[in-house]
Amino acid sequence: RDLPLILGIETSCDETGVGLVRGCELLGDEVASSVDQHARFGGVVPEVASRAHLEAMTPTVRRALDAAGVKPADIDAIAVTAGPGLAGALLVGVSAAKAYAMALGKPLYGVNHLVGHVAVDQLEHGPLPKPTVALLVSGGHTSLLLVRDLATDVRSLGDTVDDAAGEAYDKVARLLGLPYPGGPHVDRAARDGDPAAIRFPRGKWGDGTYDFSFSGLKTAVARWVEDAGRTGRALSVPDIAAAFQESVVDVLTRKAVDACTAHGVGHLVISGGVAANSRLRALAAERCAAAGIELRVPRPRLCTDNGAMIAALGAEVVAAGLPPSALDLATDTSLPV
Ligand code: KG4
Ligand code: ZN
Repeated sequence: RDLPLILGIETSCDETGVGLVRGCELLGDEVASSVDQHARFGGVVPEVASRAHLEAMTPTVRRALDAAGVKPADIDAIAVTAGPGLAGALLVGVSAAKAYAMALGKPLYGVNHLVGHVAVDQLEHGPLPKPTVALLVSGGHTSLLLVRDLATDVRSLGDTVDDAAGEAYDKVARLLGLPYPGGPHVDRAARDGDPAAIRFPRGKWGDGTYDFSFSGLKTAVARWVEDAGRTGRALSVPDIAAAFQESVVDVLTRKAVDACTAHGVGHLVISGGVAANSRLRALAAERCAAAGIELRVPRPRLCTDNGAMIAALGAEVVAAGLPPSALDLATDTSLPV
């Protein structure tokens, strides 16, 4: 009851998220997604996303307040995603957050979307052990972070140098004739396939960095599909899906566990939409157990973009006593952690 009530607003990509959080307690979590409007384009269209945020913002805030039985005057602070993300999409969220902060006379905190993906785990599993390594895998990002303190000390260890992991799933799904977003469909198809049927390349394997690369893998899958078409070789969608997935998940889990070991960290959080992947969860659990690392994966609803993750991080920032953002808070499409 004593902890401040934080309203979190998220609009970095195609989800309009509004969350209400007190400390590690989740009070409200409403998400309006424009994913269906992007499906026929095979990826998020920034203009379409911005317009959808504009339309969804007020009703989503109202729904979150109503569902939690919270009056606007009960809100103690407003946290909003300042970046990274799509320029127009971020602007809608930050403008709305400024308006609420001004109207309610409450402080505004611009926060980092990537760190929000880590902070959200606290709403499910309680305070995050310090330090923690975090693997963020979604349609927009693939990052390894060393988290000593959510509010004040987060360091990037590595990133994708080309496609994000979820983006690779979506592109390969398209090659295989599966619908968008393709991740869940590839996951499902892979269950009937043999991951050893084809040996696809492992991008940036053993290169001594914590960076990732998936565009070579995507090209290898494309070539495999083309060759099959040209030579009349039988094309097994489950086998290709399983072999592709094994390549992605093998590198992700290997580098995440290596980062923990190298930094003497005993805890790993995996978050982002791709954290829903069944093979990623299984292999991460296996490798973390072998290395004596505690693995935390928030439930899928919290792994994908939402406002609760931004409120959860806002709660940390307020608790750390950091100063609020000015009302001319700017968005930053490539905001570093
Ligand atoms: O976090 P998210 O909802 O949105 C952002 O990209 O920020 O992540 C969506 C991504 C998509 O690329 C989708 O294909 C992927 O997560 N995804 C999956 C699975 N479920 C969602 N990828 C692999 N396996 C899954 N089960
Ligand atoms: Zn995200």
